[in-house]
Amino acid sequence: MNTHIDEAKRILVTNDRGGYTVPTDRLYPFQWNWDSAFVAMGFALYDTDRAYRELERLVEGQWADGMIPHIVFHQPSDTYFPGPSVWRTKHTIPTSGITQPPVFVIALRKLHEAAGNKDRTLPLYEAALKWHRWWYSARDPEGTGLVALLHPWESGSDNSPAWDVALARVPTTTDTPVVRKDTGHVNAEMRPRDEDYRRFIHLVDTYAACGWDPARQWEKAPFKIAEIQTTAILLKAGEDLEYLARLFGRTEDAAEIATLNERTRQAILVQWRPALSRFVSRDLISGEDVEAATQAGFIPLLSLDLDRQIADALVDEMKAWSEGLKVAFPTTKPGIAGWEPKRYWRGPAWAIINWLLIDGLKRNGHTEAAEELRRSTVSAIEAEGFAEYFDPITGEGCGGLGFSWTAAAYMWLMKA
Ligand code: DGY
Repeated sequence: MNTHIDEAKRILVTNDRGGYTVPTDRLYPFQWNWDSAFVAMGFALYDTDRAYRELERLVEGQWADGMIPHIVFHQPSDTYFPGPSVWRTKHTIPTSGITQPPVFVIALRKLHEAAGNKDRTLPLYEAALKWHRWWYSARDPEGTGLVALLHPWESGSDNSPAWDVALARVPTTTDTPVVRKDTGHVNAEMRPRDEDYRRFIHLVDTYAACGWDPARQWEKAPFKIAEIQTTAILLKAGEDLEYLARLFGRTEDAAEIATLNERTRQAILVQWRPALSRFVSRDLISGEDVEAATQAGFIPLLSLDLDRQIADALVDEMKAWSEGLKVAFPTTKPGIAGWEPKRYWRGPAWAIINWLLIDGLKRNGHTEAAEELRRSTVSAIEAEGFAEYFDPITGEGCGGLGFSWTAAAYMWLMKA
């Protein structure tokens, strides 16, 4: 019996708040969107009923326009900022007003394959399709095939160096007082800086003033990045949605989704930069490439069957970044300006990012590199516990502890 698996399951029990799982106690006391999707994949391995509940509870937060918000505030808590009074959204249950990477339908497909419960899968499929359409209408109104983020939190990689240039243009003034709670739970050196928070909240104030209307936000957004990681995840979501549509005989849906998938596939390929050996995002305000060296540039492995040459170049680059590290894969290239191995998304290794990369490496025939990354992730967790993320130099577990998605990732990686 693997005691780490028992511990992983215990963490999910501890973080259960009634059919949904908080990422970790106190630091993140609500339901987060992509956290829950990863957690549902963990549950799908041993408790499919609970996995369905996780996704069903997330959908309670879905807006009439299709968006599934990044936080659903099912119950009040005073250990987190910014809470519902800052977001000022209108849904029946309080939610945030922005979204997060669409891992939801990737989880739903795995869950359906494990449980085969069409009655429970179908309503979630409908919710996923509505959200998928929202992504393309609200976040790619010009039909480029790449979807844009209007807030760094939507990427899930909140303070990544990828946002430094674009975020510097966002004012640090806020209408809402910034009263951080996160640094009361976790060492401030491991969190975004105060200046980042002022910009994060400036964006929230701006979009709240637009009444959260997607068209008005698109027009007013001071931060607008056609983002490669989210778009690559959306394409994988699109593949899984198309698979479910065909399975359920929804041929019209399947054709619609297939067209979107193809458009996005082509658009991602245009973002390949041979000189960098990475894919890049595009800043829609400056019109420039986002060249910061972060993990996002490798995530297209997940959803494209790449030419051998491109896949090999990505893998060589990943190896170069990982050389001499205790734990791969660093979310920022070690040693560059902006690299901070303990500060959240500015360098640390994250189990869920590794999970996406491992799936992508396998898809593209790099099974050895996938296995190496899998082993690195598993040993980091076994040595340090289910931390939010890991310092790639020392291997130290950092950020919040008893973290739900690290537990889910561990279970999944032990099965893979
Ligand atoms: C936070 O509060 O740090 C979250 O990542 C935002 O979603």
